[in-house]
Amino acid sequence: MKSKMKVLVTCGPTREPLDPVRFISNRSTGTLGIELARAFAARGHRVVLAAGPIGALPDLGARVRVVRFETAVELHRISLKEFSRCDAVCMTAAVGDFRPERVSASKLKRGKTAFSIRLVPNPDILADLGKRKKAHQMLIGFSLETESLEKFAKAKFAAKNLDILAAQTTGPRRTPFGAVKMDALLIDRDGGREMLRGTTKRHLAVRLVRMTEARIDRLKAI
Ligand code: CTP
Repeated sequence: MKSKMKVLVTCGPTREPLDPVRFISNRSTGTLGIELARAFAARGHRVVLAAGPIGALPDLGARVRVVRFETAVELHRISLKEFSRCDAVCMTAAVGDFRPERVSASKLKRGKTAFSIRLVPNPDILADLGKRKKAHQMLIGFSLETESLEKFAKAKFAAKNLDILAAQTTGPRRTPFGAVKMDALLIDRDGGREMLRGTTKRHLAVRLVRMTEARIDRLKAI
């Protein structure tokens, strides 16, 4: 590919606070997003890596600018801001779908009775980007399913107006969180379907970078 892209990659979990010391989060490690940032930069593209709370990041070189987020609302704001300047977005972040309605300013004290926490929905960031997407831009989504992989993957692909979706399964016997080898179903806007078995996150990242380059080249040629 001759022209270089600007890509937003999001990675890691969101954290939704309950009080100053507690939060609701998930098991995402951010590994696939880091591999994607590395793979895009290795091909000469510029990357904004929006990283959740996953600890220190490896040195990814001068082509990768890192922005940090904690909550889904923060990631939503960052994504909308960066999107207008980007050719492609890889949304590997594991965005929490709900957050506590109220965040206590002081630490919740231990009590002897049960209590409930009311959760309110977070924005669907990828779907919002899908509504704003221009003809020259690409959205790459990631989905995690415990059952009916292909059916749910296709529904998300359409609902979020994606160009590529990499779908994985998780369950008691196989989980992608921190895994070295994984299976991924890739579907794209041209009806392409490919099942990668026992692949590494690094290999999946390289494959997705090549698919993105090929599609952006086609979009620019139109
Ligand atoms: N996603 C997002 N904002 C959300 C939830 C998900 O941008 N609030 C993105 C994820 O980063 C991922 C894709 O949407 O790229 C699919 O995420 P997934 O959790 O599999 O699907 P959901 O839309 O949350 O649906 P469900 O949890 O009901 O399966």
